[in-house]
Amino acid sequence: MSFEIRIEGTDVTFVAEAGQTVLDAAAKQGIEMPYSCRKGACGNCKGRVLHGELVPGTGGGGHEAGIELPDEHLFCRAQPASDLLIAPHSWRRVDPNARKMFTATVLRNQLAASDVSVLHLRFPAGVRARFAAGQYLEVLAPDGRRRAFSMANAPHESDGVQLHIRHMPGGGFTSSVVPGLVKGDVLQIELPFGDFYLREDSDRPLLFIAGGTGFAPIKSIIDHVIKRNIERPMTFFWGARDPAGLYAPEVVQKWLRQRPSLRYEPVISDPVDAVVWSGRRGLVHQAVLDAMDSVQDFDVYVCGAPVMVQAVRAALVGQRGLPSTQLFSDSFVVDSPAATA
Ligand code: FES
Repeated sequence: MSFEIRIEGTDVTFVAEAGQTVLDAAAKQGIEMPYSCRKGACGNCKGRVLHGELVPGTGGGGHEAGIELPDEHLFCRAQPASDLLIAPHSWRRVDPNARKMFTATVLRNQLAASDVSVLHLRFPAGVRARFAAGQYLEVLAPDGRRRAFSMANAPHESDGVQLHIRHMPGGGFTSSVVPGLVKGDVLQIELPFGDFYLREDSDRPLLFIAGGTGFAPIKSIIDHVIKRNIERPMTFFWGARDPAGLYAPEVVQKWLRQRPSLRYEPVISDPVDAVVWSGRRGLVHQAVLDAMDSVQDFDVYVCGAPVMVQAVRAALVGQRGLPSTQLFSDSFVVDSPAATA
């Protein structure tokens, strides 16, 4: 059995098979709607179902996933039980053939912090990948599952990819496979995925907020902005538990040399001796509230754990009046099939 799904205010329709989610059905037919975790945790995929029925128990989501209205649902969960009329937060047509499989070889595997690997992968000679700054790839792990990681390199560095991978306790791939990868090891990867990428049709100043390895896609975007001489003012908050969690100081120092107007605000949340850390302390969303008088004119890009992304959204959209259309987010969920970690 299949159902027709139409996007409100358009002639755009797509077909979902029984058991298929709204998000997957749309993607298969070249329509991309916002998403991140695909696990019902981040709320990025929420949209309204204006007419029609969902399979009971699908589509739901609590307040923590940002669900506020009775007809709002998570499209990464929602499965149609009838034809639907939907109102996604946004949508765009993409080329379903733009996503490709690559065989990548490990070039370097560096320990950037005690629990963070920076993995450099190279494609075979002459092979290039196309992606937008901020997007992610999926690794086909040896156990058959897929793991998602954001590209940390900018799109012009297209002969390979750089991944920042936190070793999650109990995360099979990130903690038991990644640390042991050595030069010459081969991984199968597919890319690009995701709608977390720099909107270049805007000229608003940029506010970037990263938690931990949420730095990776932010790095891709800032590298891209500098490479392309995009003259938008940039502010970057990077939060971690301790100073070691801000694991790429040389990258930030290079940016500050290349773009002295960049405002960089590192933030530490663990109690750390004042001799070790004299900078900002606390949770990163509170640091943004403390340091920024107004955010309404910014485009805000935020990447980190779902709880951090939700806290930033509540602070900036809920308290400071940032239009939700100017906040772009990427949440990672521990060791999920669509997690950045
Ligand atoms: S809740 Fe659906 S993509 Fe995260």
